Amino acid sequence: MFFATLALFATFALAAPSVELDVRQTNNVQKPTCGVAGDANLSDCYHLYNNWPYYQDATWGATCHSGVNLEYNPACYGNCCIYTSSRTPLWEDVHTAVGHLLDCRSDSKGTVNGRVKVEGSGTVCMADRKACGDCFN
Ligand SMILES: *[C@@H]1O[C@H](CO)[C@@H](O)[C@H](O)[C@H]1NC(C)=O
Repeated sequence: MFFATLALFATFALAAPSVELDVRQTNNVQKPTCGVAGDANLSDCYHLYNNWPYYQDATWGATCHSGVNLEYNPACYGNCCIYTSSRTPLWEDVHTAVGHLLDCRSDSKGTVNGRVKVEGSGTVCMADRKACGDCFN
């Protein structure tokens, strides 16, 4: 009994770190789709990510249409813009999603663009200033 418990504990302890990582990647933010719209400037996007605006400063009045749906452009810095399908996403979820979208970067070109679905907070896209419609097509 003791050894069985120990073995179970050891297995769990070894498996735990990768399980936690998987849960984070699949539950909170899914795999981004890269290259969906116009390239944003990578350093502008890093700046936006590292100086994430307050929800109260987000520009929810900036909208666009893709087909029949209305989308939002809550934040831009330089030529890097964030677009969301939801008017009321969890703002910290959007920030986390932007962090994942940075995985779409090309360090050699200094550019990035991509889109990712966030459970409960819709779709988040990061691309250039004219990308709003393209992001959701
Ligand atoms: C991005 O913006 C920075 C700062 O304005 C600029 O130095 C850089 O050349 C830009 N990169 C690209 C790929 O346009």
